[in-house]
Amino acid sequence: MRQKFIVANWKMNPNTVSRALTLARSVARHAARARGTRVILCPPTLFLLPIANALAGRKCAVGAQDVSLKEKVGPHTGEVSAGLFYGAGARYALIGHSERRALGETDEIVSWKLVNALDGGLTPIVCVGERERDAGGLYLHTLADEITHSLKNVSGARVQRIIIVYEPIWAIGKTASAALTSHDVHHSVLFVRKTLASLFSRKIAEAIPILYGGSVEPENASALVREGNADGLLVGHASLDAHTFSAIIASVGRVRERR
Ligand code: PGA
Repeated sequence: MRQKFIVANWKMNPNTVSRALTLARSVARHAARARGTRVILCPPTLFLLPIANALAGRKCAVGAQDVSLKEKVGPHTGEVSAGLFYGAGARYALIGHSERRALGETDEIVSWKLVNALDGGLTPIVCVGERERDAGGLYLHTLADEITHSLKNVSGARVQRIIIVYEPIWAIGKTASAALTSHDVHHSVLFVRKTLASLFSRKIAEAIPILYGGSVEPENASALVREGNADGLLVGHASLDAHTFSAIIASVGRVRERR
């Protein structure tokens, strides 16, 4: 069985470092009890170093929300490279989140950021997903294209070090009732794996964790993993409250125990 991942994308929250530390410490206490599940917190860049220090030795990893297209230190005002994130304690990085793509990040940019993350020692968590769904299934072509172009610079050996998140843009930031059904998630996870198999091999595709993201809440978390067959979840708004996020961690842990 592949390991499960629960990734918290805090986006530009909370508004002070002390709130961020309180949230991180509280989540880490619950993460310690989640067997077979890796919990990863992606805080705002400014809070990453103090959180990584506070969580050192705990069972909760830290990730960046993005990395620079620049791979080396140098005259790049405002940029933060994968290597700098690694030095600050990050071990993962979200790459190509739809909110970055909405700011103009193309598949080409994503494909190079992914290489930078790998070169910098980080595990890229690559986000893909359609803007909207059509009854004719044309969105599947868009999804396959996005995967193909985003992964074009990685070899079969290196691609096994990445995590994919299927996150349909239309399902982000809503409530569990408006999220994808676990049946649809299952279908999409199969489609992503099939696309990976056609690009690399079936064996390689089987080794890559495929998570689901978009309006994950405690109400739908376990079904998305159990029936949706996702290898974990990317959680936005529901990761900002320790109690709510811990409920998600606990329910995914229980899915594993029942299997
Ligand atoms: P959401 O956000 O859980 O609030 O839908 C998910 C994301 O944007 O990664």
